[in-house]
This record gives sequence, structure tokens and C-alpha cells, in this order.
Amino acid sequence: MTTLILGQILPFAADPFAVPPTQAATHDARGAVAIDGGRILGQGAVDTMRTAHPGATEIDHGDGLILPGFVDAHVHYPQTAMIASWGKRLIDWLNTYTFPEESRFGDTAYASEIAGRYLDLVLACGTTSVASYCTIHPGSVDALFEAAQARGMAVWAGKTCMDRNAPATLRDDPQSAYDDSRALLLRWHGKGRARYVITPRFSPTSTPDQLSALGALWAEHPECLMQTHLSEQLDEIAWVRDLFPQARDYLDTYEAHGLLGANGLYGHAIHLEPRERDRLAEVGAALVHCPTSNTFIGSGLFDMGLTGTVRVGLATDTGGGSSFSMLRTMAAAYEVAQLRGQALHPAQLLWLATEGSARALQAQDEVGTLAAGSAADLVVLNLASTPAIAQRSTRAGDIWEAVFPTIMMGDDRAVAQVYVAGRPVKAGD
Ligand code: GUN
Ligand code: ZN
Repeated sequence: MTTLILGQILPFAADPFAVPPTQAATHDARGAVAIDGGRILGQGAVDTMRTAHPGATEIDHGDGLILPGFVDAHVHYPQTAMIASWGKRLIDWLNTYTFPEESRFGDTAYASEIAGRYLDLVLACGTTSVASYCTIHPGSVDALFEAAQARGMAVWAGKTCMDRNAPATLRDDPQSAYDDSRALLLRWHGKGRARYVITPRFSPTSTPDQLSALGALWAEHPECLMQTHLSEQLDEIAWVRDLFPQARDYLDTYEAHGLLGANGLYGHAIHLEPRERDRLAEVGAALVHCPTSNTFIGSGLFDMGLTGTVRVGLATDTGGGSSFSMLRTMAAAYEVAQLRGQALHPAQLLWLATEGSARALQAQDEVGTLAAGSAADLVVLNLASTPAIAQRSTRAGDIWEAVFPTIMMGDDRAVAQVYVAGRPVKAGD
């Protein structure tokens, strides 16, 4: 049965980094998204949609802004309970807070509790899909995919592999990393909305043998994404240089082991050498910008100019990032770009959090757009969710001015409703 979801709509027809941002999307103050069987049938002006779908049920969100659900392209769900841990830089922060917490995920009941808690937190923020690292424990992957399945969510995730420079409780070895990852991939990849991602944490915590084993697995399953971290902090880069004396640069530690390709997703990528930039563009890899994390852990300022040559997604990087919210993450992306003399337009911010991240995941046909055929994963934003935002947005001259205060100042109170595969998440609608 067809349902029309009514509100303001702002579908994108083009990449706002490739065309003038205001021309990338068309605003309709009274629009509708038609959905059926968990899929989007189309969108347009409400009268047109009523004519095209006579007899459709209607859910009216008034002047709420209907967008594709946010897509968070790099998170660590096991870090949910230790988000906002104070005062360390990357390597220290991993050793002090992250590894002890991740060690707890050998307990599958704990993994299930956090997986459910995490997905409920992000849904409340309007995020309907994530690409997550799990822990080295295969049960941590099952826990997340099971929790996602119970909520109908499309989730990308994989077992985080580490065989050195981590506590014994968090180390696997090249063979077990390969075997466990392969078994999980065969169990989950393509099962409903689950997508397996081959996940070496980063070069400092994998031996060359482990990187090669995972490179071999990727060569056997090129349909899967591969996610890892790249050039996040200067200390980390110096460490990589010591650990891999033969490598030309950080990217080469992946490239030399079969871990560079178009289905590769490289988190952070802040301090890149010219060769690394060129190679990433040449192979068509995707980078993920994690602005709240990059300021919180003190990593640096991502160069948004890279959108001209590579696909770039946007992410919270929970719990290195300081928020579960993609609204807060867009605000941080705006602020970080300002510090580099780049002013991101609201169209570019909204696109990064939806279609941009979906493209990074090679999933723009499934999530991140309002196009016909996509999953009906939607977020409806109240553009006047607090007195401070309301008094600003009433002055707005156009949709961009109306939405920008919510991007900069909004939080989960701005999320009026979320639909996952057409099913409303919040009670009462
Ligand atoms: N580099 C390797 N592991 C991590 C992690 O868990 N968080 C962040 N921000 N960077 C990493
Ligand atoms: Zn990360």
C-alpha cells in the first residue's frame, strides 16, 4: 500500500561540489515522498503526487523538512559507552580508554546491549545507516548485525583486526583474522540489509602478514568494502614510518598488501603526501571526514578541496568523535572548513551527510537519496526545534537560510520523525 509522506522536500539532482550548490537541489515547500514496501516510489509537489497515487495513505509533517536518513560513514559502535573521554591524543586515547572498553566485547551479552543502545541513539539523531568497526571478537559483529536487522537498518560493519601493539585480549593473528573475517563475511554479507566490511584497524596494529592476509581476502571478495584509518595524527604517521621502513608513505603500507582500491574507505586522511593524494584519486578510493573527532582528539583540519578528486563521506567517528549526531557533525565540518578558508554551503553539508556518505559506501542506489527505488530511510527535521533556532529561522529568506540554523545549532530535538525502510521509528505518527 502506498503512503505519501508530506512536508518540505529538497531532493538533490547533482553533486553540490560539482555544480553551484543552490542549483544542485530543488526545494518544494509543499512536497511529498511516495513510499511502498519499504522503497521510495518518487517525490514531487504534493498535488502531483496525489494525482499520481490516488487513494494513498497520507502522513503530514507540516513544514517539517523530509531528507534521506543520515549516513554515518565511519563509526566505532563499541566506543559508545566511552564517548567524551577526556584529555588524550590518539595513541594514548586508544590505550587508555578504547582498548580496555573494546576488551569487554568478548562478552556477547555486553556487545548486544551496546549494539542496541548505539543504534537507538543514532536513530534518535536521524541516522539510518552506519559503517562501523566492531572489535576483534566475531560476536561483536553478530551483535551489531542482529541489532540492525531487528531495526530494519542497512548497516556496514566488520571485525576489527589487530595482531600487534594492542593488549593480548584484543589480538588475533593473520590466519585467525582471515578465517574469522571470511566466516563473518559469508554469514552476513548481503543477508537482508547487512553488508560486511573487511576491517584492518590501521597499520600500527597489524603486522605486514596480517595486512597481506586481509588483502588476499579482499581480492577474493572485491564486492565488499574495506575500511581502515589513514594519516590521522602526525605522531601516528611517524610511528608508521618506524614500523614500515620500506613503505614510501602511510598509504603504501596498505597498497603494498592489496589494501588499496575503489572499494576502500579511508578514515581521517588529514596529513596526506602528494603521492598519497594522487594514488587515492587514481584508484577512485573514498575518504571519510570525521570533523568532531579531528578536533576532539586534536588531529588536524581535513582538506575539503579533496572533494574535487575523490569521493568524500562524512562521519561522527564515535567515540573519538564527540557526538552521535550528524547535525553536530555537519556543524563541525563547516567550522573546520572555515579554519581552512573554505566555506561549505548548507547544500554541501546536507549532501555530505546523505548522498556523499552513501557514495563513499558505493551505496547511493540504496541509501542517502530520495530517488525512486531507494530504501525509504528518511529523517524529518523540525526547522524550529528550539526557541533559539526558531527565532533565527523565521527570518530566513530561502530554504538554505532556514535549514542552516538547524545544521549549526540543532540536535536530536530537531528530529521530528525517522523512517527505516518505510517504518516510522518514533511512536505517535
Ligand atoms: N585509529 C585507529 N583506531 C582508531 C580509533 O578507534 N579511533 C580513531 N579516531 N582513530 C583510530
Ligand atoms: Zn575510526
